Amino acid sequence: MYKVGSCLRGRALTGASRWRPPGSSTEFHLPTGALYQKTSPRHLPRDIPEMPPCSFKPEEYKGMSKERMMEIRRKNCNPMIMKVTSYKKPVFVHQGHMQWLWDVDGKRYLDFFAGVATVSVGHCHPRVTAAALQQLKRLWHTTNIYVYPPLHEYCEKLASHLPDPLKVVYLTNSGSEANDLAMMMARLHTGNFDIITFRGSYHGGSPQTIGLTSNSAYKYPIAGASGCTNTMCPDVFRGPWGGSHCRDSPVQTIRDCGCAQGHCMANEHPSRELEELCSTLKNFLKEAYTLVRERGGVCIADEVQTGFGRTGTHFWGFQGHDVIPDMVTMAKGIGNGFPMGAVVTTPEIAASFAKGVHFNTFGGNPMACAVASSVLDTIKEDGTQQISLKVGTYMMLELAKLRDKYEIIGDVRGKGLQIGVEMVKDKASRDPLPPDEMNKIFEDVKDMGILIGKGGVYGQTFRVKPPMCITMEDADFFLAVFEKSVHDYMERR
Ligand SMILES: Cc1ncc(COP(=O)(O)O)c(C=O)c1O
Repeated sequence: MYKVGSCLRGRALTGASRWRPPGSSTEFHLPTGALYQKTSPRHLPRDIPEMPPCSFKPEEYKGMSKERMMEIRRKNCNPMIMKVTSYKKPVFVHQGHMQWLWDVDGKRYLDFFAGVATVSVGHCHPRVTAAALQQLKRLWHTTNIYVYPPLHEYCEKLASHLPDPLKVVYLTNSGSEANDLAMMMARLHTGNFDIITFRGSYHGGSPQTIGLTSNSAYKYPIAGASGCTNTMCPDVFRGPWGGSHCRDSPVQTIRDCGCAQGHCMANEHPSRELEELCSTLKNFLKEAYTLVRERGGVCIADEVQTGFGRTGTHFWGFQGHDVIPDMVTMAKGIGNGFPMGAVVTTPEIAASFAKGVHFNTFGGNPMACAVASSVLDTIKEDGTQQISLKVGTYMMLELAKLRDKYEIIGDVRGKGLQIGVEMVKDKASRDPLPPDEMNKIFEDVKDMGILIGKGGVYGQTFRVKPPMCITMEDADFFLAVFEKSVHDYMERR
């Protein structure tokens, strides 16, 4: 199972005024856009630019106190939830609209993490919300033992977004569940047992998919998930091979490369090494697919994060690599936050699986199908894939300038609005910036009104994955805030 990589980096800030790229003004503003509200300038450093306006007015929060929520969180919510609570001063989220979130005090945030790359077209997008409400009044639930229109409308619509022969759809409730199902189907179809993923990857937390996931933080010392092997990720920043023109991204690494343009040493390594280490190239995935298929395997593209136009150039990440997988798994952006996942495969693989019966109570229920169907329409109508390409590429190129300016920004990578900014102690060592140091910048960016994510094996990479409805103004605001926090950190250390 191969995961299309993700990650990037950014640029610096000065003074009060925001730089506007020519022609960037309101090109991507959606009609639902907005007005200003309760950001409290008192608490902001003098030199950060003004947050882009928003006309939407959130409801006033009248619920339980923050202290009470934290008490319940500690006492009644599972302890993991405290472990993953981002920020020393947590964000108490109350309401969302498109790229904006409001906390219970009415403070507005620009959401550049989208509930972990999940809100694809915008929080409570009016069109998707209307579709959900309509279905909510008509029929919440029935299962696929009955024939109901939303399921069929959606399966046909989703299949039309995939190339032949990927036309058979299984609907699930999450990405882990989709990957679990794909593992089972691949094993039944091929008669093989071993599954290969990349080191450092995340493919789910269920007992089966935890074997695919390769990050010690998520691993438990229990048996299970046997037959899962992780191979070296083609990481051209940290890995043994690769240089300045290997990456499928608008931004290349700062590493030198001795290879001639369009020619990569890693390609010339013996196939065993290529298989084991996967090298770096733009055509890496193509070679890996060939190796797997030569050995009777099938290739699964986990598009849980990279699907639905997020990479900008294509609707699916795999399409940027000139390959067609045997199975595609998806979740997150599929439902704009509604719990949903899917596996799409070939009629041949589906036939191997059809020997027994597989049932899923909620998978593809009417609500999920109505929402997901509207998400597909909205991606098209709002041009979100084009936004991903234009705004994402712009941000990456600007972040690359910041990388060249600041010693602690080691790498910027990604495609579209799937961006990673890898932080280091210094560029020479490439040692990861330690978690406490990462947290200072992370917290600072949040205090200035922007939510981003963190990831990577050492927690050293900032993740930028906003809803795909952001504007150039939002991008500029983020770049300014991010640069200011890096700049201030450097001044302090
Ligand atoms: C690439 C990828 N695959 C699978 C999953 C698992 O999805 P879920 O959390 O919906 O089970 C995730 C979740 O972060 C993911 O990023």
